[in-house]
Amino acid sequence: MKAPVRVAVTGAAGQISYSLLFRIASGDMLGKDQPIILQLLEITPAMEALKGVIMELEDGAFPLVAGIVGTDDANVAFKDANYALLVGARPRGPGMERKDLLEANAAIFSAQGKAINDNASKDIKVLVVGNPANTNALIAQRNAPDINPRQFTAMTRLDHNRGMAQLANKLGKTVNDITKMTIWGNHSSTQYPDLHHCEVDGKVAIDQVEQDWYEGTYIPEVQQRGAAIIKARGASSAASAGSAAVDHMRSWALGTADGDWVSMGIYSDGSYGIQEGLIYSFPCTCKDGDWSIVQGLEVNDFSRGKMEATEKELAEERDAVSHLLP
Ligand code: NAD
Ligand code: LMR
Repeated sequence: MKAPVRVAVTGAAGQISYSLLFRIASGDMLGKDQPIILQLLEITPAMEALKGVIMELEDGAFPLVAGIVGTDDANVAFKDANYALLVGARPRGPGMERKDLLEANAAIFSAQGKAINDNASKDIKVLVVGNPANTNALIAQRNAPDINPRQFTAMTRLDHNRGMAQLANKLGKTVNDITKMTIWGNHSSTQYPDLHHCEVDGKVAIDQVEQDWYEGTYIPEVQQRGAAIIKARGASSAASAGSAAVDHMRSWALGTADGDWVSMGIYSDGSYGIQEGLIYSFPCTCKDGDWSIVQGLEVNDFSRGKMEATEKELAEERDAVSHLLP
C-alpha cells in the first residue's frame, strides 16, 4: 500500500461535498491503491452538520480512508495538504450570473490562498469549484506567492462533460465515442465549447452537425446548462459537479488517455494569445502529475471571436477584484 496523501475539501457539509467526499473516499479520484486522509473545512455554524457527514463517512467503512479531520480553521484544514478542492462558497440562485457571486465569495479565496501558502505541501494541487471558479482560483493563486501558479486550477470539467453528453445525444452516440472536447475560457455563460477539434468515432465533430444547430442550440445549451439545472432542481448542480471534480483531479494526478485531452481552467502562459496570468480553460493533456496545454490547434475567425469574448470577461472579473490581488 502507498503512504496516505492529505486531501483538503472546503464546504464539506454542503451539497456538492455530500456526493464528492464519498467518491474520493472510495478511491475514484486518486485510485484504489491510494490511501487518503480527509481534511474537511466548514464555517463554524456548519460544524454540527459536518459532524454528521463525518459520521456517515465513518459508517461507509472505506478501506482507503486513513483518517478524517473536521475543522473550522483553514490552517488546520490545509496543513501538509497534497490536494485541495475548494468547494465552499455561496451558490447562485435563479436569475443570477455566476459573477454576481464575486463580492460574496471573493474574500473566502484570498484567505484560503494565504492559508494554503502558509500550511500546505509545496506540491499541492488545488482545484477551485466555488463560483465564479476561474476568478476565485486567480484570487487564491495570487495570495499564495510561494506556490507555483500552475498548481491552482479552476473547474470547467463539468462543462466539458456536458459538451460531450449533448453531442452524444445529438448524434445517437455515447460519450465513449467522443474525444478531444474543448471548453475555452470562463466557467460562465461566455465559455466556448469548441467542436472544431473534437472527434466522434475519430472524425471531426463539426462536420457531423449543422452549423445552425451548433451556433443556435449546442453552444447556448452548454453555456446555460447550470442555469437550466437551477431552474429544474431549485438548487445548483451538485452530484454532477462532484463527479466532474473527481474527473478533473484524477486526470491531473493519474494522467489523460493517449489521443485524448481534457478541459482545465489553468494559469495562462500566453498560449493562443490569451493574456498571461488569467485562469482560462484550455485543452490539456496530463502526465506525471502535471498538465500541458495542447498546442498548435487551428483557430478560425469564429472561434477566435468566442475565445476573445470569454477572455475579456475574465479580464473584467480580474479587474473587479484587483484589491484582493497582491
Ligand atoms: P452549498 O451552499 O450547498 O455548500 C457550500 C458550503 O460551503 C456550505 O456548507 C457552507 O457552509 C460552506 N462554506 C461557506 N463559506 C465557507 C468557507 N469560508 N470555508 C469553508 N466552507 C465554507 O453549495 P454547493 O451546491 O455545494 O456549491 C458550492 C459552490 O460550488 C457554489 O459556489 C456553486 O456555485 C459552485 N459550483 C461550481 C461548479 C463548477 O462547475 N465550477 C458546479 C456546481 C457548483
Ligand atoms: C454549474 O455550472 O452547474 C454550476 O456552476 C452552478 C451554477 O451556478 O450554474
